[in-house]
Amino acid sequence: MNAQMSVHSTLSFATLLLAPITATLAQSCNGHPDLCNRKYDAVCNVATHNSYAFGKNIAANQYTDIASQLQDGIRGFLIDAHHPLNPPDKHTIELCHTSCFIQDGGTAVDNLKKIRTFLDNNPYEVVTIFWENFDAFDPSDFEALYQQAGLANLSYYQPPNTTWPTLLQMAAMGKRVVTFTDNVVINGNYTNTWYMPEFSYVFETPFDTTNANAFTCTVDRPKGKAAAGSFYLMNHFLSSALPSLSNKSIDIPQSGKATFTNGKDQQNGTLGYQATLCNHTFGRVPTFMAVDFYQNGSVFEVWAQMNEVPYTSKTWAGMPTVTASSTPWVRVIDTSTGHHVEIRLVAWTLLFLGVMVFLA
Ligand SMILES: *[C@@H]1O[C@H](CO)[C@@H](O)[C@H](O)[C@H]1NC(C)=O
Ligand SMILES: *[C@@H]1O[C@H](CO)[C@@H](O)[C@H](O)[C@H]1NC(C)=O
Ligand SMILES: *[C@@H]1O[C@H](CO)[C@@H](O)[C@H](O)[C@H]1NC(C)=O
Ligand SMILES: *[C@@H]1O[C@H](CO)[C@@H](O)[C@H](O)[C@H]1NC(C)=O
Ligand SMILES: *[C@@H]1O[C@H](CO)[C@@H](O)[C@H](O)[C@H]1NC(C)=O
Ligand SMILES: *[C@@H]1O[C@H](CO)[C@@H](O)[C@H](O)[C@H]1NC(C)=O
Ligand SMILES: *[C@@H]1O[C@H](CO)[C@@H](O)[C@H](O)[C@H]1NC(C)=O
Repeated sequence: MNAQMSVHSTLSFATLLLAPITATLAQSCNGHPDLCNRKYDAVCNVATHNSYAFGKNIAANQYTDIASQLQDGIRGFLIDAHHPLNPPDKHTIELCHTSCFIQDGGTAVDNLKKIRTFLDNNPYEVVTIFWENFDAFDPSDFEALYQQAGLANLSYYQPPNTTWPTLLQMAAMGKRVVTFTDNVVINGNYTNTWYMPEFSYVFETPFDTTNANAFTCTVDRPKGKAAAGSFYLMNHFLSSALPSLSNKSIDIPQSGKATFTNGKDQQNGTLGYQATLCNHTFGRVPTFMAVDFYQNGSVFEVWAQMNEVPYTSKTWAGMPTVTASSTPWVRVIDTSTGHHVEIRLVAWTLLFLGVMVFLA
C-alpha cells in the first residue's frame, strides 16, 4: 500500500471510530442532548418503584411493563430478586414482591432482555437497575442472569469514591448498564465488578410513605450515612395505610392520588416540591426520582426542571399486549420493625377491611 492510501485509510478508520461519538452532539442522552456531556450522577432520571408490578390490580405500582416504561423515558428500575415457585430453583431469579406466591412479575431474564432490546435500538441511553436482593442470591447468579439477558457486556463498573464519567463517555465505552444491589452476598470472585453495593455510592430518602405531606429529605437508607460524597435516590410514592392492628398496617399503592403526588406545583406532598426541597437540602438534584404511576401528574416536567432542560410533552407507550400474572395483594408493614410482608387479597381480607372501616 502506498503512503497516500495509508493516510486515506487511516483517516477513514478514524472517521468511522469518531462517527458515533460526534453524531451524538445532535443526539439525545437519557432524554435530552444537553445531558450527553453531564456526569452520570449529575443527571436526574425518573425511576419506577416495583417496575415489574403492573396491570389492573389494586396492588400494582405501575400501568405498563418495562419495555413501555423505557420508551416513555424511565431510566431507573427498582426490582426484587426472588426464587421462583415453579419450578423451584435456587439460582434462577424471578421478579416478585415478598413472595412469588403473592405477586409474580415474571422471570428476571425476560424482563432484562427488554432492556437489552431497548439499548440496542438506543445507543446513547444509560439504564440503572436497583436490586432488592431479597432472597440473597450469590453474585454468580446475577452474572449468569446478565450473560443470559445480554447485559453483562454492557455493564459498567465504577470504583467507589471516584468521579463518574459522562453519559456520552459511557456510551463511547459501550458500558450503559449500571447495577446496584442492596444486599451483597460476599463472593471474592465478584468484588470490584459491575455488581456494585448500592450504599457505597447511593443513599435513599424514606420509602413507604403513607402521609401525602410527609415526603422528607433525610438519609434513610443506610441509616446514618453522610449525604456528602454520594448521589441519592429520592423515593416519592404513596401508599395508603389502613387501620393498624397489632403493629401491622396495610398499604395499597395510591393510583387515585398520583396526579397530585406526581405533580409539579410547589405544594407540600408533590414531586416538584420534594425534588426542590431535596436539591436545597443536599445541594444537588436527585439522580433518581422513584415513583409509582408516572403517567399521572407531571413527572417529566419535574424531570425537565431538575435537569434545567426544556420540557416536551409526551405520548405514552401503549399498554403491553401480554400482562403479567398478577394476583391482587396488599402490603402489610410491621410498624415496630419496618419489615413488610404482603398477603393475598382474598375475600376474607376485603371482608376484614370492610369491618375495620365500618368500626372506624
Ligand atoms: C460479550 O463479549 C465477549 C467477548 O468480547 C463475546 O465473546 C460474547 O459473545 C459477548 N456476549 C454478548 C452477549 O454479546
Ligand atoms: C469512600 O469514602 C468513604 C467516606 O470518606 C469511606 O468511608 C470509604 O471507605 C471509601 N471507600 C473506598 C473504597 O475507598
Ligand atoms: C471463584 O472462581 C473459581 C474459579 O472459577 C472457582 O473455582 C471458585 O469456586 C469461585 N468461588 C466462589 C466463591 O464462587
Ligand atoms: C408538610 O406537611 C407535613 C404533614 O402535614 C408537616 O409535618 C410538614 O412540616 C410540612 N412541611 C412543610 C415544609 O411545610
Ligand atoms: C393515569 O394514567 C393512566 C395511564 O396512562 C390513564 O389511563 C389514567 O387516565 C390517568 N389518570 C388520571 C387521573 O390522569
Ligand atoms: C438546585 O440548587 C442549586 C443550588 O444549590 C441551584 O443553583 C439550582 O438552580 C437548583 N436546581 C433546581 C432545579 O431547583
Ligand atoms: C408494637 O411495637 C412497639 C414498638 O414500636 C412494641 O413496644 C409493642 O410491643 C408492639 N406491639 C405488638 C402487639 O407487637
